[in-house]
Amino acid sequence: MKEQFIKELSTRYTFKGEKIVLGKAMLDREVMTDVEIGVPLKMINRHGLIAGATGTGKTKSLQTLSEQLSLNGVPTLLMDIKGDLSGLAKPGDHSNAKILERYKSLELTYNAQGFPVELLTISKEKGVRLRATVKEFGPILLSKILGLNDTQTSIISIIFKYCEDKNLPLINLSDLRKVLQYVTDNEEGKKDLVTHYGSIASSSLGAILRSIVTLEQQGASCFFGEPSFDPNDLLKFKDNLGVINIIRLTDIQNNPLFFSTFMLSLLTEIYQKFPEIGDQDKPKLAIFIDEAHLIFNEASKVLINQIETMVKLIRSKGVGLYFCTQVPGDVPEGILSQLGLKIQHALRGFTAKDKKEIDKAVENYPSSSYYKANELIQQLGIGEAFITSLDEKGIPTPLADTFMISPSSRMNILTETEIEEIVNDSYLVKKYEQNLETKGAFEILSESSNNNSTPKEQSDVSTKKTTSDQKKSTKDTSLFSTILNSAFVRDMGRTIVREGSKALFNALGVNKRRSSRKR
Ligand SMILES: Nc1ncnc2c1ncn2[C@@H]1O[C@H](COP(=O)(O)OP(=O)(O)O)[C@@H](O)[C@H]1O
Ligand SMILES: [Mg+2]
Repeated sequence: MKEQFIKELSTRYTFKGEKIVLGKAMLDREVMTDVEIGVPLKMINRHGLIAGATGTGKTKSLQTLSEQLSLNGVPTLLMDIKGDLSGLAKPGDHSNAKILERYKSLELTYNAQGFPVELLTISKEKGVRLRATVKEFGPILLSKILGLNDTQTSIISIIFKYCEDKNLPLINLSDLRKVLQYVTDNEEGKKDLVTHYGSIASSSLGAILRSIVTLEQQGASCFFGEPSFDPNDLLKFKDNLGVINIIRLTDIQNNPLFFSTFMLSLLTEIYQKFPEIGDQDKPKLAIFIDEAHLIFNEASKVLINQIETMVKLIRSKGVGLYFCTQVPGDVPEGILSQLGLKIQHALRGFTAKDKKEIDKAVENYPSSSYYKANELIQQLGIGEAFITSLDEKGIPTPLADTFMISPSSRMNILTETEIEEIVNDSYLVKKYEQNLETKGAFEILSESSNNNSTPKEQSDVSTKKTTSDQKKSTKDTSLFSTILNSAFVRDMGRTIVREGSKALFNALGVNKRRSSRKR
């Protein structure tokens, strides 16, 4: 049986072309040093899942994968929810007894190595600032983060339209807040809105205002502003290594809705900006989402559908998506079925519900005559995982109990001083730290109330600025350009129409005429 196992798995895990190494196969708790387990580089855009109970090694597997990709000249983007990935920038500890023991049984030599890392932030933490204007974020996604109902969402869309007609740039949240206050409290503003757009219940406007204040209190205000981020800046290399971009998201753990909406807008922007390349020998970018259940738990059905559509579409842009979560069941079925690489760490079966999750997880993997999968899945050690991947032809590889290699970089986080060094050396930090002094709706309305003039009159003064502004933002390679006009929505529109469901289409507020005209 052992010989057969070695023969079968070595054959099935030998690929044409470059491969990402993950570890070596195990049989009956023994490492089979001749059987290297990995995934073809070519298949990285076919997405993946890293699952397992807390402390079983998911984040370290993610770290290893991004290192291997970097070594192969592929940049990565890591959503670091727990703040435990910054260690990638520094070499690991080559005297760590556990690692040395692991490498002895793997019959490999441990090489400690640091990687080129860029730290990014959507809050006030140190790093490259990721920002988008309220206008670029668009009324639909904004309504989602604000948790608005359908009526309130349509009001937000009207307010966006009003601002466009009135040349009131929506740059940050105070701009939006100011406009809402203006059409609620100011006689002039009230009249203006009613005359052109019909009457809107002030209670709804009040509710929207309150949700904006809550969002600001949650710290989202520093995310909205200029300059917006260009996703092409994620595709950097240093000494032939792919740069590892780490978005530090520790402070938004408590706002999962913001996280999922942010994710979707980022993916949309990447989808829009990257050219179609189909399946290539090498992916362009891989994105890892640690603690991905945070995205799915609170996301509405519509949001999940959108993420699902995005997972389908983004592959042809050479982008692979990797979800890291506790049980495969955290990931919606429609997304799970699209994931090529699966790394399953141990699951613990304490309760009846746990046992059900285990059965479900095992079903998610090819059956194997070498393992009693639903027993072994509970006994897997730390840094050990069931793996199945796709070979270069797209056929799933057999289930392999894998003793994982360790990250070459530090398994612990960086010190504050080390973080500062990276941030100070970063050209991108400088590029995005400036504030653009564009006049927004807030300034325009504040000035007009001081001068006792209406924003319409005022808009003469602001027109020049605003049109150059608008021109800029259409040319601009910004992170979140208007979702409604995006190529993604257009493509998604076609997919949805083809599938005979207009729900998502409608939910996004896109009408068919608009999408076909844009084509
Ligand atoms: N491949 C590995 N090599 C060496 N140690 C590992 C490996 N994977 C996990 N570990 C050890 O297990 C601990 C927990 O791993 P981690 O990836 O943080 O778990 P999870 O993300 O599943 O909660 C790590 O701090 C490390 O000490
Ligand atoms: Mg983890």
